[in-house]
Amino acid sequence: MRKKLNIGVVFGGRSGEHEVSLVSAKSVISALDKSKYNVYPIGITRTGQWIAGKGAMQYLKTGKKVGIKKQSILPEPNKSNLDVLFPVLHGPFGEDGTIQGLFQLADIPYVGANVLASACGMDKIIMKALFIQANIPTPKYIGFSRYEYENNKNKIIKSIAKELKYPVFTKPANLGSSVGINKCLNSKQLKASIKGAFAYDRKVIVEQAIVGREIECSVLGHNDPKASLPGEIIPKRDFYDYDAKYVSGDSDLVIPAKLNKQQINNIKSLSIKVFKAIDCSGMARVDFFIQKSTGKIFANEINTIPGFTEISMYTKLWEASGISYAKLLDKLVKLAIERHNEQNKYQKSFLPSTDWYKQ
Ligand SMILES: Nc1ncnc2c1ncn2[C@@H]1O[C@H](COP(=O)(O)OP(=O)(O)O)[C@@H](O)[C@H]1O
Ligand SMILES: [Mg+2]
Repeated sequence: MRKKLNIGVVFGGRSGEHEVSLVSAKSVISALDKSKYNVYPIGITRTGQWIAGKGAMQYLKTGKKVGIKKQSILPEPNKSNLDVLFPVLHGPFGEDGTIQGLFQLADIPYVGANVLASACGMDKIIMKALFIQANIPTPKYIGFSRYEYENNKNKIIKSIAKELKYPVFTKPANLGSSVGINKCLNSKQLKASIKGAFAYDRKVIVEQAIVGREIECSVLGHNDPKASLPGEIIPKRDFYDYDAKYVSGDSDLVIPAKLNKQQINNIKSLSIKVFKAIDCSGMARVDFFIQKSTGKIFANEINTIPGFTEISMYTKLWEASGISYAKLLDKLVKLAIERHNEQNKYQKSFLPSTDWYKQ
């Protein structure tokens, strides 16, 4: 019999998406095949404390900390026991490359995007620059830092008015779950919303609003990633804001989306293009708009750790494409190990062939 793999499922975290992560982690932990894996829950509290073992399971179920020992960076079971880490964390400190850096340093295979792809996927300004570089259509935008805005406010507002048409969306560059995002209909709202977005980040992006449909597509793989069938989000509110995502939960998910063959193929190939544009690995959900007036497809964003419950878009799209939730988890674990092995193939040191250094 093959040795069971020890999987550390990391959840919670210092992010506004803490609760969402707990929900996803519960699903992942219960669906991981116990005949193949020993599962170790590893919780991170809202203040960044790590909890392992029984305390972690308790925290996952109740949100309450009990018997936490002194904090350490990688808790017991320590790195020698864990074969794969599965970060089920959303937003800053989980999806942005920081924890991926820790896993990389600990030399443990981990599920999903590496440091670079996680960071590029998190920062909407860098992400869009990479889309444009790869000829991926994305809504027109202007990005700036607090320093730039404070020192050139009139110039920036003028260039937004010149380059974009109302309505526009304002977003903190590095967040998720629609936190700090606003739709603005005029310059008064624009100024107030930029100010609001700067409460969350040192960079803000202002984007042309696209009137149309919201389509999402799941991608899975490493060197040769594959795309699922696309799905559609139909928010009941003005846009897919925080409330629509987590509070009212009344948005409709249409799986698969009602699209023609050509649209499906275009969305699938664009999803893979987006995945590759940020050098992603493992999994990602790529989100699009289809403009009502033109039928044109625009890439909105890539999420390197999408919502991951059994009823989330990411997993449902794979189910509709023939990959069950448990199979998906198996594939992600396998991809994590594959990437780790691939990294270890490269020479880590350099010995010059001449002895110039002795001269
Ligand atoms: N350019 C845009 N045009 C139309 N709707 C948008 C635009 N940008 C964002 N939205 C709306 O806001 C929601 C959240 O924006 P998004 O960029 O996906 O941020 P997040 O990373 O927080 O999910 C989208 O799902 C969509 O409903
Ligand atoms: Mg989004």
